[in-house]
Amino acid sequence: MSDAKAITDKRIYEYVNPEALKWVRDNSADMTKLMAYYKCAIMEVEAKLNVLNEEFSLRHDRNPINSIKSRLKSALSIAEKLERVDLEMSVENIQRDIHDVAGIRVVCSFTDDVYMIANALLSQDDITLIRKKDYIAHPKDNGYRSLHLLINVPIFLANEKKIMTVEIQIRTIAMDVWASLEHQLRYKKNTVFTDEMGDELKKCADLSAELDYRMEKLRREVTAQEPMYNNKA
Ligand code: GTP
Ligand code: MG
Repeated sequence: MSDAKAITDKRIYEYVNPEALKWVRDNSADMTKLMAYYKCAIMEVEAKLNVLNEEFSLRHDRNPINSIKSRLKSALSIAEKLERVDLEMSVENIQRDIHDVAGIRVVCSFTDDVYMIANALLSQDDITLIRKKDYIAHPKDNGYRSLHLLINVPIFLANEKKIMTVEIQIRTIAMDVWASLEHQLRYKKNTVFTDEMGDELKKCADLSAELDYRMEKLRREVTAQEPMYNNKA
């Protein structure tokens, strides 16, 4: 089952904002088109990431990208978000103010791979950086680490070009493990997440940062032995 389908099914059991639902239904043709454009933007960025991964692996004999996951926010969730932040529901407002309709999560092997992939992507002349948040250099108070990029990317349709916004999170395997488990623990239904639990999670985040640091150091030692090392960037 696709992620999109799973999300829709889950929503059956949740509260739905009636105005948002009505607006999505009344604007279904426009929204279907808009969602297709965002899906195309995800495809464009994923293709770029796959090309970077492939090329790096040719040169260095290892993959900097471990996995790429993407998700499209549902039309209903988008409309509900607009309502929550007190904005009128319109296609224009979605494109201008809702930046996480199209989301891509890139899980890299090592911390320097995160920056290498981000810089390689941002140096492409059809990609525009809108915002960068470096939660690796500056982790959130709870210990969360990741590099967040908000970019504009063009999609080429039969007769026009559209510029779409995509949110990208780039992190290491260790950062991804921590973030997934933290989310599971903190948002478990009918439970209380205490300050002490938060402190323990923060310590786990520090341990995972230490793990990333030591693994990267090991990788540098290993790659330094490669005969062609001096010819490789
Ligand atoms: P603002 O929206 O401007 O505050 O910044 P941002 O979009 O860079 O970060 P935001 O806090 O909105 O988080 C965006 C996404 O990053 C979330 O949907 C999560 O996927 C992820 N994220 C951010 N903070 C955390 C965190 O503390 N724990 C986990 N597990 N994920 C987080
Ligand atoms: Mg956000």
